[in-house]
Amino acid sequence: MVKEMRWDSKLSSLHKLNHVFVKFAVSFLLLGLAFRIFSSDSFRISSVVETTPLAEQMAESPVVSLPIQAPVSSVVPENETQTSENVAVKCDIFSGDWIADQSGPAYTNESCHVIEAHQNCLKNGRPDLGYLYWRWNPRDCELPRFNPQRFLHLMRNKSWAFIGDSISRNHVQSLLCILSQVEQAVEVYHDEEYRSKRWLFPAHNFTLSVIWTPFLIKAAIFEDMNGVSSSEVQLYLDELDEQWTDYYKDFDYAVIAGGKWFLKTAIYHENNTVAGCHYCPGKNLTELGFDYAYRKALRHVLNFVTRNDHKAFVFLRTTTPDHFENGEWFSGGYCNRTVPFKEGEIDMRDIDSTMRNIELNEFEEAAAAASKNGVVLKLLDTTRLSVLRPDGHPGPYRQFQPFAKDKNAVVQNDCLHWCLPGPIDSWNDLVMELLVNGEEYR
Ligand SMILES: *[C@@H]1O[C@H](CO)[C@@H](O)[C@H](O)[C@H]1NC(C)=O
Ligand SMILES: *[C@@H]1O[C@H](CO)[C@@H](O)[C@H](O)[C@H]1NC(C)=O
Ligand SMILES: *[C@@H]1O[C@H](CO)[C@@H](O)[C@H](O)[C@H]1NC(C)=O
Ligand SMILES: *[C@@H]1O[C@H](CO)[C@@H](O)[C@H](O)[C@H]1NC(C)=O
Ligand SMILES: *[C@@H]1O[C@H](CO)[C@@H](O)[C@H](O)[C@H]1NC(C)=O
Ligand SMILES: *[C@@H]1O[C@H](CO)[C@@H](O)[C@H](O)[C@H]1NC(C)=O
Ligand SMILES: *[C@@H]1O[C@H](CO)[C@@H](O)[C@H](O)[C@H]1NC(C)=O
Repeated sequence: MVKEMRWDSKLSSLHKLNHVFVKFAVSFLLLGLAFRIFSSDSFRISSVVETTPLAEQMAESPVVSLPIQAPVSSVVPENETQTSENVAVKCDIFSGDWIADQSGPAYTNESCHVIEAHQNCLKNGRPDLGYLYWRWNPRDCELPRFNPQRFLHLMRNKSWAFIGDSISRNHVQSLLCILSQVEQAVEVYHDEEYRSKRWLFPAHNFTLSVIWTPFLIKAAIFEDMNGVSSSEVQLYLDELDEQWTDYYKDFDYAVIAGGKWFLKTAIYHENNTVAGCHYCPGKNLTELGFDYAYRKALRHVLNFVTRNDHKAFVFLRTTTPDHFENGEWFSGGYCNRTVPFKEGEIDMRDIDSTMRNIELNEFEEAAAAASKNGVVLKLLDTTRLSVLRPDGHPGPYRQFQPFAKDKNAVVQNDCLHWCLPGPIDSWNDLVMELLVNGEEYR
């Protein structure tokens, strides 16, 4: 059963460049498929892996007798008390430009073995490599590159989780690749669908997890393995997803992010009743808008972390933009730019600014409660710097050698996830800076 619905999307300057104003209609089935492809789910690896349930895994003491790759010698001398003296207090590390940088990425498809096939742009044959030679340069301060030795040293006996959708998985893979210069992680857990995983860095007794919880709150998702939805999502706006809250006390650090899944057709439940919906014509329910649900969800998430007895160091990452041009993922949209935008050449799309505004508001509300309770809450505001990187997505190179047989082949583009290596690596530079010099910023 296909339900028609309209999704009038005002796409801003990316499209202004082409004087294109796109209006399109999608069915929720298609929308389901979209996020199967783009927020999705499958990274299937054929290697034999443990299937011990997460609960048991969490209770176990970490295995330290596994093969350990000798750490490479430290390039930068460690100094726990060192601070970047050239960092201006209250500098906004999220405002700046991408500048040319010949040093290139910290890893490649050869040195890192955990890059998901769909994001392995080098292996998949993306011909242009210029996108690898840029560095985020905050306007008023220096952003040091991620120092994997120092990071792992700080993380001895610690546990860290990325909590969110497939973009969080994209982000954790970037971190794993950067850290693999010093120590290879050992995968110690994955769920049945390879969406949630956990790794151990044995030499540092550091545990890194990614938890797939695309809404962060309780949700019933009716999608088969091909991402075709048979019914709309049922979202419970006043209940958190136990997939992450049950394990929250095990994490010293967490990077939490919501986002694009809230755009899907959903029925909203509150106080054990149906409160309304988003995109459900014919259902005689009040359209509440995705922003209603997203705000409630984030508020609930932030209340949980800021008022918790367990005092973690929490980053709230802002939404990640896509860069489809001249269409969407299902209507021939593509992203073939090869250089970043300069500031002013592109505006954030309405959907992204709506989401980011909610994130910023809810963060501000929560920040006071956090500091009162001794919880460190940091905003990882990567949206604007990511908007400037239309060149950082796999595009057609989400597939292996898409044009090998036919150079005019019509292939699905991914203009949402990020190539690895790619611009998403800079998110970790920002994480590291907030981790070690966080008090210098807001
Ligand atoms: C470490 O940092 C402190 C504070 O900046 C400095 O006084 C000290 O000399 C540094 N030590 C080394 C070995 O660099
Ligand atoms: C890495 O990518 C290059 C192309 O850039 C390719 O020739 C090589 O086979 C890839 N290596 C692996 C291990 O995927
Ligand atoms: C890590 O934990 C072990 C065992 O509890 C302890 O002996 C060691 O000192 C800890 N290391 C650090 C850096 O906290
Ligand atoms: C590893 O770290 C955990 C705390 O996260 C600690 O309980 C455990 O004893 C440590 N194990 C070793 C072998 O250091
Ligand atoms: C749910 O209950 C809360 C508190 O009892 C109330 O403030 C809120 O308006 C209720 N929401 C709905 C949708 O009924
Ligand atoms: C829609 O819901 C309202 C209030 O629940 C009800 O009064 C009305 O009869 C319903 N309309 C249809 C067509 O079911
Ligand atoms: C991107 O693709 C479009 C349509 O195929 C083409 O007109 C344009 O020149 C391409 N741009 C780049 C930078 O390759």
